[in-house]
Amino acid sequence: MTGQRRSTAWFGATGRAGMIYRSWMRNQGFGAEVFDGRPVIGIATSASELAPCNAHLTRVAEAVKRGVWQAGGFPLEFPTMATGETLMRPTAMLYRNLMAMEVEELIRANPLDGVVLLSGCDKTTPAMLMAAASVDLPAVMVTGGPMLNGKYRGTDVGSGTHVWKFEEELKAGRMTQEECFFAEGCMARSNGHCMTMGTASTMACMAEALGMQLPGSATWPAVDARRFEIAQSAGKRIVEMVEEDLRPSRILTREAFENAIRVNAAIGGSTNAIVHLLAIAGRAEVDLSLDDFDTLIREIPTLVNLMPSGKYLMEDFCYAGGLPVVMRQLAEAGLLHGESVTATGNAVGENVAGAENFNTDVITTVEEPFQPAGSGTAVLRGNLCPGGAVIKQSAASAHLLKHQGRALVFDTVEDYHAVADDPDLDVDETTVLVIRGAGPKGYPGMPEVSNVALPAKLLKAGVTDMVRICDGRMSGTSYGTVVLHVTPESAVGGPLALVRTGDLITLDVAARTLNVEVSDEELAARRASWQAPESPYKSGYTWLYTQHVLQADEGADFDFLRGSRGHKVPRDSH
Ligand code: FES
Ligand code: MG
Repeated sequence: MTGQRRSTAWFGATGRAGMIYRSWMRNQGFGAEVFDGRPVIGIATSASELAPCNAHLTRVAEAVKRGVWQAGGFPLEFPTMATGETLMRPTAMLYRNLMAMEVEELIRANPLDGVVLLSGCDKTTPAMLMAAASVDLPAVMVTGGPMLNGKYRGTDVGSGTHVWKFEEELKAGRMTQEECFFAEGCMARSNGHCMTMGTASTMACMAEALGMQLPGSATWPAVDARRFEIAQSAGKRIVEMVEEDLRPSRILTREAFENAIRVNAAIGGSTNAIVHLLAIAGRAEVDLSLDDFDTLIREIPTLVNLMPSGKYLMEDFCYAGGLPVVMRQLAEAGLLHGESVTATGNAVGENVAGAENFNTDVITTVEEPFQPAGSGTAVLRGNLCPGGAVIKQSAASAHLLKHQGRALVFDTVEDYHAVADDPDLDVDETTVLVIRGAGPKGYPGMPEVSNVALPAKLLKAGVTDMVRICDGRMSGTSYGTVVLHVTPESAVGGPLALVRTGDLITLDVAARTLNVEVSDEELAARRASWQAPESPYKSGYTWLYTQHVLQADEGADFDFLRGSRGHKVPRDSH
């Protein structure tokens, strides 16, 4: 550590200000010795009963504290906003940037030398990483870990993934409402976040792949004793990171993001990682583009056989050896930058060198992968998505990856739901469902509504998939041939706003194209008569959001939050 610790500006002060900084802290029973200049470590805890995936983080924080004390630091736990995926309306994503902003400011405004970030549910992990990148103080993340595998009638059921399945079963009359009530309890049977390879598990793996959490951290179940052991290790480690001045700017490099993108392909991770990694890179001032998510993964096979693309769940992934096994294999195949520095202080290649694979059915090999290279996420371009769109091939149906069909267009997802069960809906399995108004500005918040259930008429006829196109996102736990993140979104006048029912749409994933078969002249004529929808938000946070949110290809962060603002000690408060 060069120069004085940040916290010394508070706790080392003499006179009136120092008295104020220390005296009120002592009401918690801390002895005078904690102000002796030791590293002060913030433990940012997004625990909340309204974010059930994070509810147990208070216990994780206790384990982190043990480690901080053990290493000679002074731990101070503080609550942050928690963006729970399941309850927040209109979508937790509307609040990711608010949480990122809050965490950033809390870290900077307080007498902290380093911070441990406790996250879990989907948006909480990227929000905290965005914050850490913008403050650039030593930081290590501990995600809360996945729930135990869901168990229903003798089979494993995955959170999220089985919600979509049960919904289809219910709609098709193969399951009763009573059975669904029972099954929903079986799906979530312990603390933790979704145990499919949904967004939470994906982002936990991304944090580990980026080097921002300790190796092995992503997969230990929330209730496993190892979760608390690794949390304690992180507490010890952050004190050393402060001594070493190992900050996110050294960890979050272009190479680290390339590693994360490749790991995401190898684990069959969520499409939401694209938006979140772009946002984190924007904070870290790393030049990353949407196209990197296509070009960098073309040679990466999917190694991990987890729902929604495969059959296993996070517990199985953990017991098979977890993410280090995947990363070791990529490193050995020359598909990982092994030199990238991580929170351990060691290079990522060193961290994973000894990782052993205990179950090659769960974590397959590069030679015999679960899915071959080229089956990952594809970035599409065309006259329907000049700014790009995304499709997760491994979650799609092979026969629909090249498809031409007639558009059936809905301005809002509610418009679709209103008619989805209509037996006379003019739709067949070749129809392309277009749902717009679900982008960052339009919804607002770019919700996970794109994977709408198929029309009841088709489900009853045994159809299991159809092409859907939307400017929103979909849950990382879901599946289907769904084109997502269409950019620019319809609310800002992207071409998606100009499509009409009956237009022919051509999807060709191999060629990376998505086009509407309408002439440029006709599109220009439609544009001339297009009117931007009026936003009902004239004040408050949602107004701020709609004014400043960037499009999906820039991570849907706020324009004024990109970049790093550092951790200079603010002016005195007294
Ligand atoms: Fe919180 Fe899935 S709902 S992780
Ligand atoms: Mg989700």
